[in-house]
Amino acid sequence: MGSITPREGFDFGAQLNLQDPKDRELLCFVLSQALYGEATGVYCGKSLYAAQSLEAARFYLRQARQELNHLELFADIFRSLELQPVPAHWVIKLLSAHNNYYPLKVLMEHAFGEGMVLDIFRDVLLQVLPDDDPRIPDIKKKLAVVCKEEEEHIAWGEKETMRLMQVSPWLRWPFYGILEWQMLLAPQVAWAVGRMGVDHPILKRLPAFVGAVQKKLWKQGQALGIVPGERPGLPTRLFAMTWAVLLFLRSQFARSHSRLEKNYLSELGFTPETP
Ligand SMILES: [Fe+2]
Ligand SMILES: [Fe+2]
Repeated sequence: MGSITPREGFDFGAQLNLQDPKDRELLCFVLSQALYGEATGVYCGKSLYAAQSLEAARFYLRQARQELNHLELFADIFRSLELQPVPAHWVIKLLSAHNNYYPLKVLMEHAFGEGMVLDIFRDVLLQVLPDDDPRIPDIKKKLAVVCKEEEEHIAWGEKETMRLMQVSPWLRWPFYGILEWQMLLAPQVAWAVGRMGVDHPILKRLPAFVGAVQKKLWKQGQALGIVPGERPGLPTRLFAMTWAVLLFLRSQFARSHSRLEKNYLSELGFTPETP
């Protein structure tokens, strides 16, 4: 199962030198964010609880196993490169926060969130790790497997987002508003990361990378039917962004609800579907 929008790569045009302390510091920072992101894979437990169908339950179960493997795999990378993880940046913590409201969780964590994770693994890590280091080919092989699995997670998020919008067409407005917020906030992420004190030539390409990620997000939003072909005017954008804020605020008080104990019979094909 692949994503509905092919994600074009971004060329950083440089590789790190693992003997250089500055390069090691930068790599350690990026890997530490990835390690934290994978640790949030435990959220799959809540997703399994909130699964609305057997198909969703099967997916979250499979995802939980994969995310746990990713977490251990990143820990192995730290050990093999003799790096010590540092705490995650507050922006990463904010972006990877769990949302109990299922439709927002599906869009923000799976479709958009894991899409950006894939961009970082494929366009940053796979490119900047130096091929001339004997430890790297094995690490890259493992990372390629992680990328393939992240693609599956994005594809699920996209499929489930479209299903949710079919059931509740009004979701398109707050979803579109979330995309507009991401367009507005993504450059701030580049700014925040640029200010964290690591001075490196690769970081100079960060604003261009963030711009490329934004373009991919926009295309993904179009393919999902969240945004029209042409960007609407400011009043429509503000309307959608207000919806997004209201729904996000509402989601902060949402509780996970289980569904399978109510619809398991219809899910198993025993009785007509429950309304
Ligand atoms: Fe992962
Ligand atoms: Fe994932």
